[in-house]
Amino acid sequence: MDYAELASRAGKAKRNSYSPYSRFRVGAALLTADGRVFTGCNVENSSYGLTICAERTALFKAVSEGEHSFKAIAIASDEDSFTPPCGACRQVILELAGNVDVVLTKKNGSSRVFKVLELLPHPFEGKNLKKARRKKP
Ligand code: THU
Repeated sequence: MDYAELASRAGKAKRNSYSPYSRFRVGAALLTADGRVFTGCNVENSSYGLTICAERTALFKAVSEGEHSFKAIAIASDEDSFTPPCGACRQVILELAGNVDVVLTKKNGSSRVFKVLELLPHPFEGKNLKKARRKKP
């Protein structure tokens, strides 16, 4: 599957967005190494902090189905500009998908591809945690 098709799947997933508070619809489409696609949308809550972003919905769906090998994630919103993943999602994408391609799209269909580590340089990862644990207090 090419990234144009993946972006279009993100745009379709956006239609399921549950966003009565922000009215900001987001869709994501996550491509696995073997060509499957898991989609997600943002799901909000009246207790705002419980909201989950489209990217994490897609990732958690995939991981909960036993999928662990990914190639790219596309993100679509209704904006004329690119909608980059929030900081929390950058952290979760890196954790669960690794340094995959992040395909940002605009409403007009244009797109731009970044690597996760371009969006989240010098990340905190599991290996940092292990190093910290090894240190004596
Ligand atoms: N949102 C996403 O789903 N993904 C992003 O990349 C940016 C933000 C959602 C969270 C919330 O429902 C709405 O967009 C406004 O922040």
